[in-house]
Amino acid sequence: MANIQVHLHAKDISTLNGDTLVVFTKPNAVKDKPAKITHAETSKALDSALEDKILTGVNGEVLSFREARFLGFRNVISIGLGADNKMTHETIRQAAAALYKEAKAIKTKEFFVHLDGIATSQNDLVEYTKAFVEGLHLCSYSFNELKTVDQKKTEVMQAHLVTKLGKNKAMQAAFNEGTILAACTNFAKRLGDLPGNLMTPTILAEETIAAAKGTSLKVTAWDKKRIEKENMGGLLGVARGSAEEPRFIVMEYKGAAATKKPIAFVGKGLTFDTGGISIKPSAKMEEMKYDMCGGAAVIGTMLAISQLKLKVNVVAYVPATENMPGSRATKPGDVHTARNGKTFEINNTDAEGRLILSDALVYASEQKPQFIIDTATLTGAIVVALGNIHTGYFTRNAAFKNKIEKAAVESGELVWNMPLVDAHVKDMKGTFADLSNVSSAGGAGSATAAGFLEQFVDADIPWAHFDIAGTAWACGNRLNYCTSKGATGVMVRTFVEIAKQYV
Ligand code: BES
Ligand code: ZN
Ligand code: ZN
Repeated sequence: MANIQVHLHAKDISTLNGDTLVVFTKPNAVKDKPAKITHAETSKALDSALEDKILTGVNGEVLSFREARFLGFRNVISIGLGADNKMTHETIRQAAAALYKEAKAIKTKEFFVHLDGIATSQNDLVEYTKAFVEGLHLCSYSFNELKTVDQKKTEVMQAHLVTKLGKNKAMQAAFNEGTILAACTNFAKRLGDLPGNLMTPTILAEETIAAAKGTSLKVTAWDKKRIEKENMGGLLGVARGSAEEPRFIVMEYKGAAATKKPIAFVGKGLTFDTGGISIKPSAKMEEMKYDMCGGAAVIGTMLAISQLKLKVNVVAYVPATENMPGSRATKPGDVHTARNGKTFEINNTDAEGRLILSDALVYASEQKPQFIIDTATLTGAIVVALGNIHTGYFTRNAAFKNKIEKAAVESGELVWNMPLVDAHVKDMKGTFADLSNVSSAGGAGSATAAGFLEQFVDADIPWAHFDIAGTAWACGNRLNYCTSKGATGVMVRTFVEIAKQYV
């Protein structure tokens, strides 16, 4: 259930009344002068707070004035935005989250946000509104559906965004886009937060099919028989140790002429990673329910693209399985054959993500797409390299890299380009098969994993691999519009921005 409803109004704020009014404060460009409130009028309480420099307008400042009784409102919350020349839509996302927290803290059930004045141009106002609605929806996500206590019906917060552009087409489109992007990101978070027993490959496929109902997305889920027929030896090899059947989820969206090549997304849908026979240590193993977050990101991306009705053709593939040490499980040293006929020896059954992705990348390449993007919680090494701040991505295509960087600026998600060279590929050569699933050299574990994946992508197709092992869950309080514990839905918003560049 949503915790917040956000509405867009084309009204004059002075004609409205309600519980709480939200105003924005910025520092005065003239040094030592009181800060400025973006709202045209102020109240006595606000004026004296400005005079006394209690309200300074610095970014991150949140101040409540209870019973301020200003215009038709009982309370006022002021949100500091910082100087105009330092403001980005990321500032606005953070401001939205700060506001939501404060509104909850002062127990208000509705607030009215006067958006005019936060930006200096109409274009920015539209962009900022998108970011604002996105921030509100993202930060209000919670995962409580499995708790029987503390489930007191919390009232849904009502957020009213008031702007003179409320009836403007571009504004309404931006509002709609922000809402969809956040809702689909939150959808991906929920898939990630569901525990392994309630998020099996079969359930992942069912949830995807259910979510696509009513959209123009076509979703099919191949069962084990079909996967065998399709020669997906990597996926089958990993699934051997589990009582749960694997699934290969296929999603198609047609938003452009049939003659137009699709773009392709692939996501690791490992619903629980024990490590298999090369079993993981017990500590924090519960976190391996998040090993399907790459798949969840791709599913969320497809839902968003279809709801936004982007004029682009898209295909997406999610190989889904558990990695368990059952009696028929793949053993270290076993050799399996991927869909393209390449053989790999499995020297560590915990390096399973690359195996299930290999078949999906081969299948994606066969569709001759304009590009392939894959995303996976692939390596612990990326967490060592980048922590939980940046998602590391690999591509050898400079033009594609530019597109990715541009998209990430739009989304506000932090990404970092990592090196991938022939030496990394060489380290993945097998002794008894074409490839080994672990590197023969020490270090650069994320790059050698990327080098392995590259062996399954058609060389003519621009390809990028996003390793989200550090960013897929528990981003802490760094991004205050994310929950401090749980899945983040990372990459959905960036991937949609990339898709928008292909319309
Ligand atoms: N799912 C893990 C990667 C992972 C580790 C994600 C920690 C998030 C946090 C992946 O399947 C894995 O176990 N990779 C191994 C590969 C190694 C055996 C070559 C790793 O990174 O340790
Ligand atoms: Zn693993
Ligand atoms: Zn894994």
